[in-house]
Amino acid sequence: MWKTGAALWDLRVTPRCPYLWSLMPMQLCGVTTGVVRVTTVGDVTVIATESLSKRFPRVTALDRLSLDVGPGVTGLVGANGAGKSTMIKILLGLSPASEGRAEVLGLDVATEGAAIRERVGYMPEHDCLPPDVSATEFVVHMARMSGLPPTAARERTADTLRHVGLYEERYRPIGGYSTGMKQRVKLAQALVHDPQLVFLDEPTNGLDPVGRDDMLGLIRRIYTDFGISVLVTSHLLGELERTCDHVVVIDGGKLLRSSSTTDFTQTTATLAVEVTDTDAHPDGTRAVREALHARGVEVLDSQSGLPGAGHILLLTAQGEETYDVVRDVVADLGLGLVRMEQRRHHISEVFTNEDEQRKEAVGHGS
Ligand SMILES: Nc1ncnc2c1ncn2[C@@H]1O[C@H](COP(=O)(O)OP(=O)(O)O)[C@@H](O)[C@H]1O
Ligand SMILES: [Mg+2]
Repeated sequence: MWKTGAALWDLRVTPRCPYLWSLMPMQLCGVTTGVVRVTTVGDVTVIATESLSKRFPRVTALDRLSLDVGPGVTGLVGANGAGKSTMIKILLGLSPASEGRAEVLGLDVATEGAAIRERVGYMPEHDCLPPDVSATEFVVHMARMSGLPPTAARERTADTLRHVGLYEERYRPIGGYSTGMKQRVKLAQALVHDPQLVFLDEPTNGLDPVGRDDMLGLIRRIYTDFGISVLVTSHLLGELERTCDHVVVIDGGKLLRSSSTTDFTQTTATLAVEVTDTDAHPDGTRAVREALHARGVEVLDSQSGLPGAGHILLLTAQGEETYDVVRDVVADLGLGLVRMEQRRHHISEVFTNEDEQRKEAVGHGS
């Protein structure tokens, strides 16, 4: 009956000793979150890889990838086949690397896989849930596989299912669940044993835009509410902008970029200016454009095609004085200044510009 869950079961290869659990205070069993963590991840490198490679007979899935990831929510982004799932399996100690080394929470993936899997929760990419049991039965079972005693397993299951928003439906068989509900069950089983870190492989796959937003919100709260660091993969760069503190981009098994989300989305030197029209200047935008030109400030091409784009002037700020020039020009023309703001990059814009070039330079591993 549980056969389809085997992929998940296999991960709990070293159930913690039930006898030992019964000797431990309940906090250690994860009943109270955040009170006792044997290893805090506040000031350590959560994931470190050094020249990590994985070669399959026909393809190099990871190619000398070196990486340091700290606490928080980290996005691992790359197109299908980029090597994301391969990376996660190596980090869990389930698949040996061909070359290089990696540590998770300071533990070596080559020799300490079992200890890693005790401390790390894993939400696999593909559907691997048994259809004929309820979410409660399945998650309790996974908690037991992780070594939680029966009572703690039931309590943690109820807490976790409530957290992922599945409380009402928890006694219904999983086979009747929507994709979004199944993704939540997979998330719940990754969290139930109170890990220090979770690997979430494409958790938004198959979800509609609302489901995606809900899932991303849940993921963010795993860190903000419980202090559990997250490595989340996606083939969609844009959706990680809001959720992640740090983004790692891989392509063809090679590292393209690793930086904090704020570095990606830092403010640009571009100012957006919007003004009102008046009787004297029925086209205020145009009047400002001409006056700025006369003062030596050039206006960039506007974002044609966007609603209202014709009314927004984009110009390059050359320091503080540009703000003063705009203010003076608008005041001299007797127009109202609706807004003058610095634009921010969207993560995807950064890629279309810089990283396309880098991608060309590094080529694709094969
Ligand atoms: N077990 C395997 N045997 C052979 N090739 C594999 C295996 N697993 C993954 N690959 C290949 O490695 C590459 C990376 O795959 P994967 O890590 O699943 O990418 P992603 O998760 O980013 O979509 C792909 O070309 C894939 O076909
Ligand atoms: Mg994958």
